Amino acid sequence: MTDLSNAAAIITGASSGIGEATARRLADEGASVVLAARREERLTDLKAEIEENGGTAIVVPTDVTDRDQVQTLIDETLDAFGSVDVLVNNAGIMPLSLMKNTHEDEWEQMVDVNIKGVLHGVGAALPVMMEQGHGHVVNVSSVAGRRLFPGGAVYCGTKHFVTALSEGMRNELAPDHNIRVTSIEPGAVDTELTHTITDGEIVEMLESGHDDMTPLESEDIAEAICYAVTAPERVDVEELLVMPTDQKE
Ligand SMILES: NC(=O)c1ccc[n+]([C@@H]2O[C@H](COP(=O)([O-])OP(=O)(O)OC[C@H]3O[C@@H](n4cnc5c(N)ncnc54)[C@H](OP(=O)(O)O)[C@@H]3O)[C@@H](O)[C@H]2O)c1
Repeated sequence: MTDLSNAAAIITGASSGIGEATARRLADEGASVVLAARREERLTDLKAEIEENGGTAIVVPTDVTDRDQVQTLIDETLDAFGSVDVLVNNAGIMPLSLMKNTHEDEWEQMVDVNIKGVLHGVGAALPVMMEQGHGHVVNVSSVAGRRLFPGGAVYCGTKHFVTALSEGMRNELAPDHNIRVTSIEPGAVDTELTHTITDGEIVEMLESGHDDMTPLESEDIAEAICYAVTAPERVDVEELLVMPTDQKE
């Protein structure tokens, strides 16, 4: 098992949902966690909670769409802990909309956060990981990175990108550079992710189409991420698709 007690783990999107739960879980495992997102107050509260429980955390307010801010995130991690052992590229948005309603600003925001934000993290972390001779990049994709659903053409496109990027990264980086790469692909998780949906038709579809499905909790995905990053060094968990038991597709 990989021991995280001397590891620095950066989690983007740590201010809520899956990122917040992952930060707690990795801190419990002994990692020094670096909390990144835009809502600084939430990150500060989480840092206090982690420290109360005996863990170590720092806050680096970061907008992942800004490459300079992501570089600062890596630099501050190095200053604080001397290494970047794990990067969880988790920040993401999902303003679903039907193509015919042409929500172009939201399409662009999804590209900026879900695609370019991930690339900014990868671009800033890789030189450090290559220099160290080790590292682990966890990219949070989605079941939407494998399947399409109504209103999700652009969102699914961004997550297909993340899944493909992860496979390409693993192929190039794991054997030759000892940098493990994992794509995490959750089904429906009970988080704030749907709060950014502005397309009334989608909101109606979500409200009326709700069956009795029990979604995953953020902690379920945090556990999957913890499994991947604590696996023995010889093991690279390339992909994990984690679905609610009663989610149909
Ligand atoms: N919930 C699901 O059903 C589900 C399923 C599959 C995959 N996912 C993926 O899981 C990831 C986490 O989502 P979640 O479900 O936990 O939703 P969430 O609670 O809404 O969390 C999203 C996180 O992303 C951060 N974020 C958004 N824009 C950002 C930006 N420009 N810069 C930095 N951080 C930004 C948010 O923080 P700030 O607003 O404070 O910046 C927040 O912490 C996403 O990539 C999502 O696509 C979720």
